[in-house]
Amino acid sequence: MSAKAADLVAALAGLEREAEERIHAAARDGEALQRLRTEYLGRKAGRVTGILRELPALPPEARRELGQAGNQAKARLEQLLAEAEAALAARPAAAGADLTMPARRQWRGALHPVTLVVDEICDIFRELGLTRVVGPEAESERNNFTALNFPPGHPALDAQDSFYLGPGALLRTHTSPVQVRVMEAYRPPIRVTIPGRCYRRDPFDASHSPVFHQVEGLVVDEGINLVDLKAAITFFARRFLSPGVTVRFRPSFFPFTEPSAEVDVSCPQCDGSGCPVCKHTGFMELLGAGMVDPAVFEAVGVDPERFTGWAFGMGLDRAAMIRYGIPDIRMLFEADMRFHAQFVDAA
Ligand code: DAH
Repeated sequence: MSAKAADLVAALAGLEREAEERIHAAARDGEALQRLRTEYLGRKAGRVTGILRELPALPPEARRELGQAGNQAKARLEQLLAEAEAALAARPAAAGADLTMPARRQWRGALHPVTLVVDEICDIFRELGLTRVVGPEAESERNNFTALNFPPGHPALDAQDSFYLGPGALLRTHTSPVQVRVMEAYRPPIRVTIPGRCYRRDPFDASHSPVFHQVEGLVVDEGINLVDLKAAITFFARRFLSPGVTVRFRPSFFPFTEPSAEVDVSCPQCDGSGCPVCKHTGFMELLGAGMVDPAVFEAVGVDPERFTGWAFGMGLDRAAMIRYGIPDIRMLFEADMRFHAQFVDAA
């Protein structure tokens, strides 16, 4: 064999060893393996290919020997690369992942407890024919107070008690202004529930929040009377709390209803026998209600000689707290996921 042929055979053996070492070293890196394939076996510039390109210049004897050695080296490197790539493909996608780590639990959303009671309350009143409507949170002083028969100088109009946005405009202090909007937009008969957010300058403590929720009810038709109101509220309280609940109407005052009542229910916690939740009175205040004052009908253009109506307003945060045993109103507003996760299955 010529000296040149012997050199080429030795160079080939050296390349093969070198390539084998580098394939081992690159075993975790698919791209590096691909680069090694090109570097050694590439058709144009591959280093093994380059040695074999010398073949035609060799005498026939040496040509056969180098040719054989070259084909073996190519086959072996190709096999090593294929094995390394197969092993890599069988590994988990993220190399270095901790396979003992527990799988991430699936996240399921929950409805807010106030949303849950709104849905429940509106569903109960829907059985009596009331549909659900909403109104804006930014209101005019006229809709929030004047049309509802609040006299000028009423303390609720004071900037100390309400959030004013500008002259004559404020964040509504109750859902009652939506009564005005509904009666100005539709002719009787009217039967609606109106849930929504309200704002007052109250402290943020265990039982007060400057933002809170109410649901309003309004029924206007010919011949509506106080008996209808008592029947509707009693029906609701028995559905919402328990069939055996005692409902008590106490005379009260609101500018927009006459007569007005505050409605108490026997404490669902102790069944009326007295406990810390009802401050040992056996009763809890549930809502305010009454017969729509004729002055309100006049303000919105409904004929008070022909139509009568009843209305109520209920604090939803308290309703949710009573319903779910929530001790502190701030829990409803603080978005603590440990609290909200408890309502995942409540819907
Ligand atoms: N708007 C009253 C409040 O925020 C609640 C209320 C009482 C609404 C009697 C009514 C009602 O519709 O008839 O305290």
